[in-house]
Amino acid sequence: MTRTWLIVAAAVMALGMAGTAQAAGDAAAGMAKAKSCAGCHGAKGEGVKKNPPLAGKDEAAFVAAMNDYKSGAKKHSMMNMLAKKLGDADIANLAAYYASLK
Ligand code: HEC
Repeated sequence: MTRTWLIVAAAVMALGMAGTAQAAGDAAAGMAKAKSCAGCHGAKGEGVKKNPPLAGKDEAAFVAAMNDYKSGAKKHSMMNMLAKKLGDADIANLAAYYASLK
């Protein structure tokens, strides 16, 4: 299940990259995915209460943090669960989206 999904995500990313060429992530696709993050991180990634802001976060740092949640190197039950559901393409797209916000 997860495996199939990863392959689909990789295919989607390959298509996206063919279209945009320069950026690794697609901010528009990231925006669609970010709906599930807005409840905690804010509609514009401004951060809500104890949830850290994501707006303007460096893309590489964002990807590193998500991969750490995915692998369990960084522990936070909700982020661990969410990160595991995201493929590399999703994470790259989310990173591009949040980096584009101020
Ligand atoms: C239930 C609330 C909740 C949801 C939903 C949520 N997050 Fe988080 N997120 C947190 C909290 C709390 C932290 C800080 C955890 C910690 O201390 O490591 C965090 C941390 C992060 C970090 C690391 C921030 C940093 O500066 O190190 C990233 C990146 C992130 N979240 C991305 C996302 C993305 C992308 C989504 C949607 C797929 C999402 N989060 C959904 C609560 C949430």
